[in-house]
Amino acid sequence: MLEGKKIAIGVSGSIAAYKIVHLVRLLVKQKAVVKVMMTPAARDFVSPLTLSTLSKNEVLIDIASGNTWANHVELGRWADLLLIAPLSCNTLAKMAQGHCDNLLLSVYLSATCPVMVSPAMDEDMWHHPATQKNIEQLKAFGHIVLTPGYGELASGLIGDGRMEEPETILRQIEAFFENMPGKDLKGKKVLVTAGPTQEALDPVRFIGNHSSGKMGYALAKECRQRGAHVVLVLGPAPAVMQQDLSGITLIKVVSAEEMYRACMDHFPSADIALMAAAVADYRPATVSDTKIKKQENDLELTLVKTRDILAALGAVKNSRQVLLGFALETNNEEVHALEKLHKKNADYIVLNSLNDGAAFGADTNKITIYSKTGEKTGFASKSKQAVAKDIIDTILKTGTTTI
Ligand code: CTP
Repeated sequence: MLEGKKIAIGVSGSIAAYKIVHLVRLLVKQKAVVKVMMTPAARDFVSPLTLSTLSKNEVLIDIASGNTWANHVELGRWADLLLIAPLSCNTLAKMAQGHCDNLLLSVYLSATCPVMVSPAMDEDMWHHPATQKNIEQLKAFGHIVLTPGYGELASGLIGDGRMEEPETILRQIEAFFENMPGKDLKGKKVLVTAGPTQEALDPVRFIGNHSSGKMGYALAKECRQRGAHVVLVLGPAPAVMQQDLSGITLIKVVSAEEMYRACMDHFPSADIALMAAAVADYRPATVSDTKIKKQENDLELTLVKTRDILAALGAVKNSRQVLLGFALETNNEEVHALEKLHKKNADYIVLNSLNDGAAFGADTNKITIYSKTGEKTGFASKSKQAVAKDIIDTILKTGTTTI
């Protein structure tokens, strides 16, 4: 079942590192392709030579050695799964904080694949509130955490903190690939809008908003990972342009009207449309060809309504298409969200409130999903990537369509 699966294993400094030798054997026996990296501290617990012999690949430890530089970005993009085991208390804390002082951490920070961790530490360290907070942080990032078991520890004490046995980790890896996101949207086309729009006043000024585009990008990434053909219609969002957009059809737009046209072009052939953009509701009635000069008196602007893209797609959608919109609210949240759901003929509305965890540019979001069939599902505050997964899982689980 694991044949050809690319698994990167990061070993950090813990006595449990010896168990990785057996795990690598089990994975290679199943014909998985395994590449191991270690923190410098892990070298004291297990030999790189043993791991490189068993994995049949060089074991990476240092970011640079001699004149060669280990390409951490490449390894993070190569893997189908990054497993960090054993995960020491120290490496856990650094991952939660985004520190990057060794190769393993730089691979972790640049990895585009799912991440699984198997912590190993003494019982008191495991139960310390700081450790538990860090574990919650990793879960919020969307990582799979294999809770350590109860048993004899390196200190001689008996308690929680014992790293899972190699056979158990293997079963978890198998289960991960069995349920792996990546197949359930294969052959589907997903249209995503993201970012703000800018409505020009003159050649140098515009009306815009604070949208970073991160939520829309997280959705596009999730759908790409699950095998969809993704068309991302993106307003001016510099943070998104710095992300990995490979495998995504990118259509860059500036104004609401351009976004509307791109969506109308692509929607007829789309199976799912996810409208995460913060589209301007109004644009200046006229756009000056030259820079508007400062006047003696105040300047009055006349604004006219833009087209509502979500409502326009809702008006033409067929029964096999899924249409999802967002509602960012500050008051009367549920009432407004339900109003948008029905008025725009969407199948789902994702509510996020500025009073309850949502913030422009943030990396986390807290959402409630309302469906046209009357379901309401609330979620805890999570990373935008984990929120994207919840949204797609909800569509596929509750979908009233043939998706
Ligand atoms: N939307 C859209 N086109 C617009 C305005 C909004 O497609 N011209 C979409 C957004 O992408 C989002 C949903 O409609 O998915 C709701 O957007 P929101 O700004 O919350 O609602 P509005 O309809 O603009 O209402 P209001 O600003 O009064 O809350």
